[in-house]
Amino acid sequence: MTTAIIGVGSIGSTLARNLVRGGEDVVLASRSLERAQAVADGIGARTATVDDAISAADVVILAVWFDVARELLTEYAAALDGKVVIDPSNPVAFDGNGGFTKIIPEDESAGRLLAALVPDAGFVKAFSTQSAPTLAGSSGLRPPIAQFYATDDLTADAAVAKLIRTAGYAPVLIGGIDQSIRIEIFGDLHELTLGAAPAEDQARKLI
Ligand SMILES: NC(=O)c1ccc[n+]([C@@H]2O[C@H](COP(=O)([O-])OP(=O)(O)OC[C@H]3O[C@@H](n4cnc5c(N)ncnc54)[C@H](OP(=O)(O)O)[C@@H]3O)[C@@H](O)[C@H]2O)c1
Repeated sequence: MTTAIIGVGSIGSTLARNLVRGGEDVVLASRSLERAQAVADGIGARTATVDDAISAADVVILAVWFDVARELLTEYAAALDGKVVIDPSNPVAFDGNGGFTKIIPEDESAGRLLAALVPDAGFVKAFSTQSAPTLAGSSGLRPPIAQFYATDDLTADAAVAKLIRTAGYAPVLIGGIDQSIRIEIFGDLHELTLGAAPAEDQARKLI
């Protein structure tokens, strides 16, 4: 399986490192090929343009901010048909006081809005609950810590569960895409697990 990671910032580079360590074939792409190459060099991944990375991949992780994800999904909707798309985004902007403010309606989720842009892809909400440092520090623990995810698609479910294990965590499905809001910022499972990553059995009790 080949996984493309679009965006090589905090979340993209952390997931790339964990997946390469677990043996996944990872191709990195970003706005700047040079920045993607700099990250790839440090972890032993390949790089490509966004176009080429998407066409080469079975799974595409959009490690970019919500607005960028919306633009990319609109532009690449056809190219993503039949592929698994993983969305870690939290739909927020900085509020100017050191915090975040939600940029979509209170009762709406990035997962639901973004999934609607690619109806023929296997869309998954995942990797939105832990901060990048927590994600980096909690890969490969025994017992493995949980990564919550949501999807409506059975093929995507199997692929993302495998990928989460490869990255060093335990996959915990919380339900369909309409449950994404629970694992995005301000959602109950997000707030409960942001800094303190629970192991799988504790995580299942929280659902
Ligand atoms: N950071 C966290 O702790 C955390 C935790 C959970 C979820 N998330 C979510 O994960 C997503 C990524 O967050 P992050 O903290 O990793 O952000 P980040 O560090 O700012 O990285 C964003 C990446 O997206 C790239 N990018 C921007 N526009 C692009 C485009 N048009 N095409 C391709 N790549 C583009 C950026 O490239 P440039 O360097 O060229 O700008 C950068 O590599 C966000 O939606 C966030 O809500 C973050």
